Amino acid sequence: KRVVIFASGSGSNAQRLMEYFQNHPQIRVVALFSNNPMAYALQRAENFNLPAHVFNREQFRDGTVLQEVKAYQPDLIVLAGFLWLVPVPFIQAFPQKIINIHPGLLPKYGGKGMHGQHVHQAVLDNKETETGITIHYVNEFYDQGATIYQELCPVQENDTAEILANRVLQLEHEHFPRIVEKILIG
Ligand code: GRF
Repeated sequence: KRVVIFASGSGSNAQRLMEYFQNHPQIRVVALFSNNPMAYALQRAENFNLPAHVFNREQFRDGTVLQEVKAYQPDLIVLAGFLWLVPVPFIQAFPQKIINIHPGLLPKYGGKGMHGQHVHQAVLDNKETETGITIHYVNEFYDQGATIYQELCPVQENDTAEILANRVLQLEHEHFPRIVEKILIG
């Protein structure tokens, strides 16, 4: 089974996926795509000798990236900290084959702009007692595809957005690779 990863930033989730599937008998990460030439995820892909592609909005919209992704014949496209809305032709080309991880309990704290620290700050501002991660299928609307998996974690008294972000990121690293594996080979 072949996995293509999309990442926009640091790529710690991408790192975990590349590590987890490095010697996997049935699943292989075959490429990483990024919309950000400065994304550290690109460095991580290079460290794993993984083909990496950088693209801009026009290439994402005009089908260039879609053709490049199709060439890898992925069984699953994994958005790991990817911040752009996926164009409809992508969704149509890979139905139920694109998943995303969100650092919050969707449908709350989702949607455009609700990523990273913004989610954690909103959780704190609303005095939530718990937060967590959501892994979901991607459709043409931000963070609105069917939920695949959620895992909770507590919000504690003196939590800052940064402390919460780290606690949630640990959850992502702990669960994302296993959920990808479950989706691909049950
Ligand atoms: C994570 O918080 C993830 O939930 C969100 O963006 C962040 C990605 O972090 N989609 P990294 O780039 O994988 O380190």
